[in-house]
Amino acid sequence: MRRTAVTMRSMGHLEAAHVEYYLPDGRVLLGDASFRVGEGAVVALVGANGAGKTTLLRLIAGEIQPHGGTVTVSGGLGVMPQFVGSVRDERTVRDLLVSVAQPRIREAAAAVDAAEHAILTRDDEAAQMAYAQALSDWAEARGYEAETLWDMCTTAGLGMPYEKAQWRQVRTLSGGEQKRLVLEALLRGPDEVLLLDEPDNYLDVPGKRWLEERLKETRKTVLFVSHDRELLARAAEKIVAVEPGPAGSDVWVHGGGFGTFHEARRERFARFEELKRRWDEKHAQLKKLVLNLRAAAASSHELASRYAARRRGCASSRRPGRRRSRRASRTAGCGCGAGARACVR
Ligand SMILES: Nc1ncnc2c1ncn2[C@@H]1O[C@H](COP(=O)(O)OP(=O)(O)OP(=O)(O)O)[C@@H](O)[C@H]1O
Ligand SMILES: [Mg+2]
Repeated sequence: MRRTAVTMRSMGHLEAAHVEYYLPDGRVLLGDASFRVGEGAVVALVGANGAGKTTLLRLIAGEIQPHGGTVTVSGGLGVMPQFVGSVRDERTVRDLLVSVAQPRIREAAAAVDAAEHAILTRDDEAAQMAYAQALSDWAEARGYEAETLWDMCTTAGLGMPYEKAQWRQVRTLSGGEQKRLVLEALLRGPDEVLLLDEPDNYLDVPGKRWLEERLKETRKTVLFVSHDRELLARAAEKIVAVEPGPAGSDVWVHGGGFGTFHEARRERFARFEELKRRWDEKHAQLKKLVLNLRAAAASSHELASRYAARRRGCASSRRPGRRRSRRASRTAGCGCGAGARACVR
C-alpha cells in the first residue's frame, strides 16, 4: 500500500482505486472498488450485512492487502474497529486508548510495559536501566501529552480522571461507554483521517446526537460505517454504497446526502435494467444471426468466414451495468451463460 506523509496540512484524504479482494475460499468479495474521500469530508459507507464494509476499511487501514488495485492514504490514520463496544477480554482502559493511538505511542507504551514486567520479575540494575530508558522514550514519543489527552477523554466519556480510569477493565464498561471513550480519543486526537466502523452501535439517543454534532464540526476526514438512517441523514455529506453481487460487491458513490440516496439508488438500478434489456435484445439478435450464418456456412466458403467473425463478436460482447474483476472477466465470457469459449456454440 502506498502511503504519503502529510506534515504541513491539517487534513488528509483517502483513495481506493480498482481494489480487488478475494475471500480465502476464492469467492470475489470486492471486484473493482474505487472511491475517494477528499480532505475534510465526512462520508458514510453503507451496505447490507456481509457486503464487505469492514473488509474495505481493513484494506484501507493496511491491516490486510488487496489482491489488485491500490489504496492511498495521506495524513495520520486513526481507526475504530467494529468490535469496540463488545470487548470482553482482559484489556484495561489504558490498553484500549493505546490501541487507537499513533504508532509511536503504541510502540513506546509496549516498551514501558515490557520494562515494568522485567523489573517485577528480576529487579536488577540492567532492568532498572531499561525501565529508565523506556520512560525517557515515552516522554520522547510525547506519551505524557497523550495521557493529558486521555484524561480529557475519560473525564468526558466516563466521568473520571485518567489516573483513576486507566487500570479499569474495558469489559466492565458498557458498550456505549467503550464506543464513546474511543470516539473521544480519535476525534480529539492528532490523526487527520478517521475510519469508524459502526461508531453509533451501542450509543443511546443522546450519544448518537453527540456523535452527529462531533461529525458535523470536525475538520478531520472521516469515513464511517453505519446502519442508522438518522445518523446517516444528519452527518454524511456523501455516501459510498457497497452492493453485494455474484461477481463481488459493487462499490459506487452517491455525491449527495442520505436524503437523496434511495432515489439515486432506484434510478441507478433502473438504468442498469434498461441497459440490460437493450443488451439482451441485441444479444438475442446477434445469436439468431450467428445461428442463421452457421446453417448457411455449411454450404458456402464466403459465409463460413462471416460466421467466424460474428461468433467472435458475440463471445467478446459484455453484459452492461456492473464492472467485474479481472478474474471474473477471464472466466465469465459474454454473460450468455456459456462462458467465453463456449458462447453460442
Ligand atoms: N477471513 C474470512 N474468511 C471467510 N469469509 C470472510 C472472512 N472475512 C470476511 N469474510 C466474509 O466476507 C463478507 C464480508 O464481511 P464484512 O465483515 O466485511 O461485512 P460487513 O459489510 O462489514 O458486514 P456487517 O454489516 O455485518 O458488519 C462476509 O460474508 C464475511 O463472512
Ligand atoms: Mg462490518
